[in-house]
Amino acid sequence: MSAITELGYVTIGVSDIAAWDDFARQILGVEVVRPEDSSIRYLRMDYWHHRIKLVEDASDDVLVTGLRVAGVLEFRDMAKRLGDAGVAVRIGSQAEARARQVLEVMFLEDPNGYAIEIFHGPLVQYNLPFLPGRRMHGGFKTVAGGFGHMMQNRRASFDDIHAFYTLLGLRGGVEYIIPLPHLPEPVELMFLHCNERQHTLAFGGPAEKRVNHIMFEVERIEDVGLAYDLVKQAGIPVIIEPGSHANDQMYSFYLKNPSGFMSEIGWGGRQPTGQSEYYQGDAFGHAPVMSNMKGFMVPA
Ligand SMILES: [Fe+2]
Repeated sequence: MSAITELGYVTIGVSDIAAWDDFARQILGVEVVRPEDSSIRYLRMDYWHHRIKLVEDASDDVLVTGLRVAGVLEFRDMAKRLGDAGVAVRIGSQAEARARQVLEVMFLEDPNGYAIEIFHGPLVQYNLPFLPGRRMHGGFKTVAGGFGHMMQNRRASFDDIHAFYTLLGLRGGVEYIIPLPHLPEPVELMFLHCNERQHTLAFGGPAEKRVNHIMFEVERIEDVGLAYDLVKQAGIPVIIEPGSHANDQMYSFYLKNPSGFMSEIGWGGRQPTGQSEYYQGDAFGHAPVMSNMKGFMVPA
């Protein structure tokens, strides 16, 4: 059976692309590629042509989630399964695939109404090794688990979201039920995985924006510390102080990016355990910076 194998890429609409140029290079440490069209940037983290596409757009939000399947047979099988399940799918033209630097792409929406692109065959540029935007101790950990994970706010029910992503081959469920003194109901967060990364997609509560945060994992703990120092020196708001999550056991912190949502930089995440568990809090740290928390859900 075909299944999603990784979070391949995301497209983000950004209102201030010049601010993202500096942020991406100097803070995240990714490589910024500027194509002829000056309203676009490609962010590289490994040999792939890109992992993030920035487009000038007032939304300051994620526009597209790009989910990979293994190859042409899995692509055909996935299209058929989605069609049989009544999901509206459009197979992209060759020009649409080439514009995304993939061999084939299909377009659909998840139950939240969020745009999804399922693809196979990304352009991998072994002739262009990753060039960090600034000094780094190591690289980004992308090979076995996609380029990272993304938490989104939900507009549909957890049941509908779970049913849809299960159809795509992801597994998981609610992993955090967090009682908060100022809220009548505990906050529930859902986590879904498809590879060696403990979660690839996560869903929180309802909110105005689609995206809550995107996580990049680095190969060395020193790069979490270095990024934290650079964030502090640049006066960029930290939203969640360093700490370790209970579910993926990632040591990470969260900062506010130029589009106003969170970037998480982490190290040392574990693989899925294969059995469901739930948690009421993290292992240590991850204290929210209350003065910077306005507009943010409880993240994970
Ligand atoms: Fe996260």
